[in-house]
Amino acid sequence: MAVLGTGSNISSAAAFLLPSQLHCNSIRRCSQLVSATIRSRLYATKVRASSAAVVETKPNPVIDETKLNIRKKILACPICFEPVSWTGDPGLSLESVARSTLQCSTCRKSYYGNDKHLDLTITGGGKVYGEPMAVSTELFRTPLVSFLYERGWRQSFSLWGGFPGPEKEFELIKDYLKPVVGGNIVDASCGSGMFSRLFAKSGLFSLVVALDFSETMLQQCYEFIKQEDDFPEENLVLVRADISRLPFASSSVDAVHAGAALHCWPSPSAAVAEISRVLKPGGVFVATTYILDGALSYVPLRDPIRQNIAQLSGSHIFLSEKELEDLCTSCGLMNFTCIRNRRFVMISAMKPV
Ligand SMILES: C[S@@+](CC[C@H](N)C(=O)[O-])C[C@H]1O[C@@H](n2cnc3c(N)ncnc32)[C@H](O)[C@@H]1O
Repeated sequence: MAVLGTGSNISSAAAFLLPSQLHCNSIRRCSQLVSATIRSRLYATKVRASSAAVVETKPNPVIDETKLNIRKKILACPICFEPVSWTGDPGLSLESVARSTLQCSTCRKSYYGNDKHLDLTITGGGKVYGEPMAVSTELFRTPLVSFLYERGWRQSFSLWGGFPGPEKEFELIKDYLKPVVGGNIVDASCGSGMFSRLFAKSGLFSLVVALDFSETMLQQCYEFIKQEDDFPEENLVLVRADISRLPFASSSVDAVHAGAALHCWPSPSAAVAEISRVLKPGGVFVATTYILDGALSYVPLRDPIRQNIAQLSGSHIFLSEKELEDLCTSCGLMNFTCIRNRRFVMISAMKPV
């Protein structure tokens, strides 16, 4: 099937997907590449050795101060969505950020970290009250699943789902994110941080927020980072938060990526509405998930089966392309596009300018 849209933006998609496997609808891209390039230059304090590796030149106190200010400004109270004040100096290492205490300027609630990540869930700091989440959320909080995730679980998506694999997915994601290079990015439901780490190492963004509800996934992300030499920790913060209650001010985020997560969210509409709220005008949402339509949409009892799965597990697996587009537009996003390969789909949409 033909690919519609701007050739350069989807060139890497075409490189790995067979033409007959490609399905795209209405690929329309805003052309903000010029301003994005200018913004990216502002952050060009490093020499890019390749798209996946960055070589530090020498410490620059002015740039470090800028990085500190960027991380101080990005987080907000998940209750009021108002700015938080940081006690002390967050520093540029994962540990120094995670040891900070944040206090909401409006409701005065304080948020703490655990040495590895900051906890900006509403009930995370509570001593008594807690809420069990849907199975599709709780499953990933188990230490075993989090340990296995990047050691085979994620790789299996390629076998039975048609996911292209992290490297190729990353190339596709970067194409979608060209208009916002130089800005900040939230890797929502980052899991063990496979893509957060690639974003941070690429040097393409002023700051990467690796965000997940699972403490054990964030722990894995932290451990993978510590195994790497010269990981640019100053480019990344680890944050625990619920996708339906994001700890960012409205219109403050340039890009949200959500890999293989939309089907795990208890309410995709609440989540995408939150993503739409935090995106700046012109900000980009790019996500991957599983899709089910075409001949398979005629499977008898498909809708009642899906409804039962959602009620029992919280998983909204196998939405159709039309449903995914409607989800985005219902939440105030526009220019929906998608690339498909078997059950795999990568979608993108933009907050109107
Ligand atoms: C299948 S993993 C995807 C991990 C990674 N993004 C990737 O591309 O492989 C789904 C992730 O969604 C997270 N998740 C589920 N419910 C969530 C919620 N309510 N808020 C934030 N993250 C959630 C899980 O903790 C898990 O890490």
